[in-house]
Amino acid sequence: MKTRITEMFGIQHPILQGGMHFVGFAEMAAAVSNAGGLGIITGLTQRTPELLAKEIARCREMTDKPFGVNLTFLPSVTPPDYPGYVQAIIDGGVKIVETAGNNPAKWLPGLKEHGIRVIHKCTSVRHSLKAEQIGCDAVSVDGFECGGHPGEDDVPNWILLPRAAEELKIPFVASGGVANGKQLVAALALGAEGVNMGTRFIATKEAPVHENVKQALVAASELDTRLIMRPLRNTERVLNNAAVERLLVKEKEMGAAISFADIAEEVAGVYPRIMINGEMDAGGWSCGMVAGLIHDIPTCKELIDGIMAEADQIIRKRFPSFADA
Ligand SMILES: Cc1cc2nc3c(=O)[nH]c(=O)nc-3n(C[C@H](O)[C@H](O)[C@H](O)COP(=O)(O)O)c2cc1C
Repeated sequence: MKTRITEMFGIQHPILQGGMHFVGFAEMAAAVSNAGGLGIITGLTQRTPELLAKEIARCREMTDKPFGVNLTFLPSVTPPDYPGYVQAIIDGGVKIVETAGNNPAKWLPGLKEHGIRVIHKCTSVRHSLKAEQIGCDAVSVDGFECGGHPGEDDVPNWILLPRAAEELKIPFVASGGVANGKQLVAALALGAEGVNMGTRFIATKEAPVHENVKQALVAASELDTRLIMRPLRNTERVLNNAAVERLLVKEKEMGAAISFADIAEEVAGVYPRIMINGEMDAGGWSCGMVAGLIHDIPTCKELIDGIMAEADQIIRKRFPSFADA
């Protein structure tokens, strides 16, 4: 399948693996890229630019296919060493960067100068248009159903994608809620030129996370995610668990008076405990409604081949049968 996205990134299939904290290690990115998609290393999971440089080198040992690095720009009192991370990406010869969070305008000239393509993740049409205006090459349009940070507008992909198609000139992928070939075809019909998946890739053989995490995704239904940190306007969609329920009680009781310090116990530094140790009640961790569509733990190749085969079957068999009727 050829789209502007496969052409731009030099990949076989229009399937991207979004950056994921404590999931997007070299093993994850390489497995997705080797399967013909675009694997992405999560920059900030590496504590320093030096460690990111090592992770990029490790990934290069595992694949000769293109892969990218995610840089998430978060509001922070003591920001990470972003110039250092950008330099590690440039020095590592990485040609694709997925940005997310704050406007990446400041970093674009430096990245562009080195021929790096930038896909910015946006949860609204206005941010997507801004990304186009400042010179991003593509956009990942992330609907309300997504795992992680869906923004504060609450527009699901069924509306958000065709709205993006009305406005954008640069190519975009559908992000959030995707797990199968039906959804890839639907995304293409709505104007996207590929898909970005997060949660679905965690339940794969190669995902370098504890088995408990994968089993939790298989066990979960589409009703099992919750939105936390709404009062802080930093909404995150997470899998429900004991810590999340505790946090939601606090949010209800404290109302607008709540601050990050009040919920730090349930969200700060919990990713290594969950992803590495498999402590499933340690705190809130990003998870999409797509958990309801996850029933197995395939290899990345089995997953991607399955999605492409299902999409092919729909396009070649199901659609023509309607057209001929
Ligand atoms: C466990 C987890 C961690 C994530 N961490 C990040 C991150 O650090 N930076 C980022 O830009 N997006 C992050 N995301 C969002 C994904 O890149 C992707 O946009 C999202 O998962 C798409 O929705 P889906 O999970 O429904 O496929 C994360 C998602 C998950 C599930």
